[in-house]
Amino acid sequence: MVLVIDFGGQYNQLIARRVRECGVYCEIVPYDYTIEKIKAKNPQAIIFTGGPSSVYADNTPQADPKIFELGIPVLGICYGHQFMAHNLGGKVAHAEAGEYGKMNIKLDVTSDLFSGISHDEICWMSHRDYVEKVPQGFKTIAFTEHTPVAAMCDDSRKLYGVQFHPEVEHTPFGQKMIQNFLFKICGLKGDWTMSSFAQTKIAEIKKIVGDKKVLCALSGGVDSSVAAVLVHKAVGKQLTCVFVDHGLLRKDEGDQVEHVFRKQFDMNLIRVNAKDRFLGKLAGVSDPERKRKIIGEEFIRVFEAEANKLGKIDYLVQGTIYPDVVESGTKTSATIKSHHNVGGLPEDIQFDLIEPLRELFKDEVRAVGEELGIPHDLVWRQPFPGPGLAIRVLGEITEDKLAVVREADAIFRDEVAKAGLSEKIWQYFACLPNIRSVGVMGDSRTYCHTIALRAVTSSDAMTSEWARIPYEVLDKVSRRIVNEVPGVNRVVYDITSKPPATIEWE
Ligand code: XMP
Repeated sequence: MVLVIDFGGQYNQLIARRVRECGVYCEIVPYDYTIEKIKAKNPQAIIFTGGPSSVYADNTPQADPKIFELGIPVLGICYGHQFMAHNLGGKVAHAEAGEYGKMNIKLDVTSDLFSGISHDEICWMSHRDYVEKVPQGFKTIAFTEHTPVAAMCDDSRKLYGVQFHPEVEHTPFGQKMIQNFLFKICGLKGDWTMSSFAQTKIAEIKKIVGDKKVLCALSGGVDSSVAAVLVHKAVGKQLTCVFVDHGLLRKDEGDQVEHVFRKQFDMNLIRVNAKDRFLGKLAGVSDPERKRKIIGEEFIRVFEAEANKLGKIDYLVQGTIYPDVVESGTKTSATIKSHHNVGGLPEDIQFDLIEPLRELFKDEVRAVGEELGIPHDLVWRQPFPGPGLAIRVLGEITEDKLAVVREADAIFRDEVAKAGLSEKIWQYFACLPNIRSVGVMGDSRTYCHTIALRAVTSSDAMTSEWARIPYEVLDKVSRRIVNEVPGVNRVVYDITSKPPATIEWE
């Protein structure tokens, strides 16, 4: 296994993901993780992440320098590279200008780290400080125009440092380099799979939970479903799934969820019909962040009410995945939207959280779902946000507006499925922008709602492109919506990427 030592860099989870893609298990631990704890984990390799600090700054993150004496191979990335150089007697200097973005780099391909890669490559840089002089025993194995030591190594001690970011897509040889480090240098095998992830998580959950009781926030979406099945496999009937039907679900969704989990998986499932409670709290509220906070808070309150009925409940499972964590703001990233299952949690929450998918990206969650034997349709269900249709009816929510968006959405989904596009598009849905416009129907003037269709392609929801749905499909959807959904006389298609837009409209 690989231990990733977190120095606060923004790409840390990507490093972990790249290691997993090599078929190697890894865990991310904070920079101040003690040597004893590191030894106890018995890692075959250590990777230092990047980070925003300078090695010379006050309170800069420090790992225990004894880490270099453990005989475990280390790869330092960006700040991790500088940390290694600085601690082993090299020199880190501060440049007048930084190096940000794609850079040409020259690699010493005789080094195992760059084996099978070309001498002239492109890499992604994001730094100002740089290693000016390598420590004793090290040699320089890559440079760019402005970075004399873009990579260094001490083969005898198996210590490696790279100034660039091999984990991002903009370093095309990055994955090959990480493979070289793991396989050639550390002798790892690459035989770990998502099923191993599932097994490890199941064992971990079993150990944490013991004989205590667990409540799961089941929404029927991919994330919470996978989380629920994982926990169910670990603790069986100690788990009670609570499915809050907040009245903000898509057409027929509530019944489908109930069927799958109660009938197919034989789980303890409680369906709480809380529509009135949610709509009551949301009445008159039009600010998107307020809506999210209210829904997040009500969600937890409903769970608490259920928990109280069930006796003492110790843990709450949630299907939080990595992009939710990032977008709600971590130590190093600013808040973009409060995702309801992270930032919206009330301060006085009464449960401990179990979030087994917290470090995974969506496609990885799907892979785990397949491993667990969850039905294909459910695993490939498009993502649906916790606050549901509340963030697809812009501004104030009413039952009428929900009904309009729900019907339009069902038509859109139906036509996308008929066109065989369901699995090619990341997310596709209708939203109600809360504008009315003039139209003409049967010789009469209408003044009705506009429906906006949103469909995006993406691999992890961090960025997305609008989906190039064929005109004929859009045409059919538009005709059906204006004909079949009362109160709609216009349909528009959203052609914005993320960034600058987000996938959801609120
Ligand atoms: P945005 O709109 O931020 O959405 O581009 C990124 C992805 O996250 C989903 N989303 C949410 N998921 N709780 C969730 O569980 C939320 O509050 C939430 N808000 C957005 C969104 O559907 C997309 O897949």
